Amino acid sequence: EGPAATVTIRADEPGPQVHPDVFGQFMEHLGTGIYGGVWVGEDSPIPNDSGYRSDVLQALRDIKVPMVRWPGGCFADEYHWRDGIGAPENRPVKINTNWGGVNEDNSFGTHEFMGFAERLGARTYVSANIGSGTPAETSQWVEYMTAPADTTVLAKEREENGRREPWTVDYLGIGNELWGCGGNMRAEYAADVTNRFITFAKPGTGEMLKIASGPSDANYDWTEAMMKISGPHIDGLALHFYTRPRDEKWEDKGPALGFPESEWASTLDHTQQMDEYITRHSAIMDRYDPEKRVMLAVDEWGTWYDAAPGTNPGFLQQQNSLRDAMVAALNINIFTKHAERVKMAAIAQMVNVLQAMLLTDGPRMVKTPTYHVFDLYQPWQGADSLPVELDSPVYRMDDISIPAVSVSAVRGADGAFHVALVNVDPNAAHPVGLRLEGVDAARVTGRILTASQMDAHNTFDNPGTVAPEPFGGAKISGGAISVTLPPKSIVVLQLR
Ligand code: AHR
Repeated sequence: EGPAATVTIRADEPGPQVHPDVFGQFMEHLGTGIYGGVWVGEDSPIPNDSGYRSDVLQALRDIKVPMVRWPGGCFADEYHWRDGIGAPENRPVKINTNWGGVNEDNSFGTHEFMGFAERLGARTYVSANIGSGTPAETSQWVEYMTAPADTTVLAKEREENGRREPWTVDYLGIGNELWGCGGNMRAEYAADVTNRFITFAKPGTGEMLKIASGPSDANYDWTEAMMKISGPHIDGLALHFYTRPRDEKWEDKGPALGFPESEWASTLDHTQQMDEYITRHSAIMDRYDPEKRVMLAVDEWGTWYDAAPGTNPGFLQQQNSLRDAMVAALNINIFTKHAERVKMAAIAQMVNVLQAMLLTDGPRMVKTPTYHVFDLYQPWQGADSLPVELDSPVYRMDDISIPAVSVSAVRGADGAFHVALVNVDPNAAHPVGLRLEGVDAARVTGRILTASQMDAHNTFDNPGTVAPEPFGGAKISGGAISVTLPPKSIVVLQLR
């Protein structure tokens, strides 16, 4: 057993709400993220509801996916929405130039995406084509989706295509990575283009928040220019940050499985950069938007490893292990800390791509360790964040030193208090002494996610290797809670 951590939670001083959309998901036309993973078509032998895989729908409903972002990603700035409406047999086949050069038959388009979000009960985030499209194309797409029934020509065309009532577009992405695959623009130019497109994107129904293409990692100049030029026009600025075990070279990110402890440590060290990036981008935003009206939307985050051996490298397929569960939990703890500014996020990506919730292979499906983290943190959705003070021992590996313990806490809609504790140390258990200030909790229950190997993962043949289990190791006495976190574990406690 290693040294102890102490945690104080100000249960009597609730902070800002953790917006449910922080648990959003990203789905792109990329590999089998949509085709095969979500959409199999009505005639498929795979059990489906109007073309959507039944197993995937059910699994995603079970973790209450609050919001889905679509159609990209890099794909979005080459996507023309008219290709994806009307009779499927008449939709044009194109090449997906970003992801593997494969045929894109457009059988999953606007109606299919909206139908999917409706089946999940999720809010919608549609990313418009800014890089290679026109303001008119975007404004017409918005009109097609949101104009009230029986009004415009586009509303009638929507009805002819099977949908009378308008949909709600909760978020409109004004391009994606405009500094890169979205058009290789300079920040000032991108900001002007953003303002131009926003001027003409007017929803016919519902509120539609506009999310500007934001920085990646530490590109603070981008945030500065965007906030200066577009700040008054936008509702959110995106932030993208991918966690990699080896962050020196994109061509060599490191494998998803079979890694040494040094790469466990470097991954969990790298992912905590998220805290610094959010802090520093927020500080720039504070200068232009002290009321915090504009959200920071972390709409692409998660791990990115070398593609799984034997797969198309353009499909970004990777296994998902206990290490990914740690990354997910650490990031959610960071988002909770920054709840005032981070009001939406989307992990990349929902099914079969990068740090996925679910993996599929033909008719088979498996839940990843990351899925189980989203399950454990369900009480965080819409809960009040609570201030926490943490004094943690350090986990050291080679030249890396990181806090062994990470924590976040919320007061849930159910009135209960929920505390997530992460022990990233793969070698030592750490006792935690925890105080919940201002509240007399009498009962504690818990769940734990852990496994014996650092790269433990679930496969189609062994789907239950990493799965949450009941945890009875927390004790309350005289207002103090004591708990020992096993090595490499995530423990979520409920206190009443
Ligand atoms: O998620 C994969 C890709 O990563 C997205 O398409 C792009 O926005 C980012 O570079």
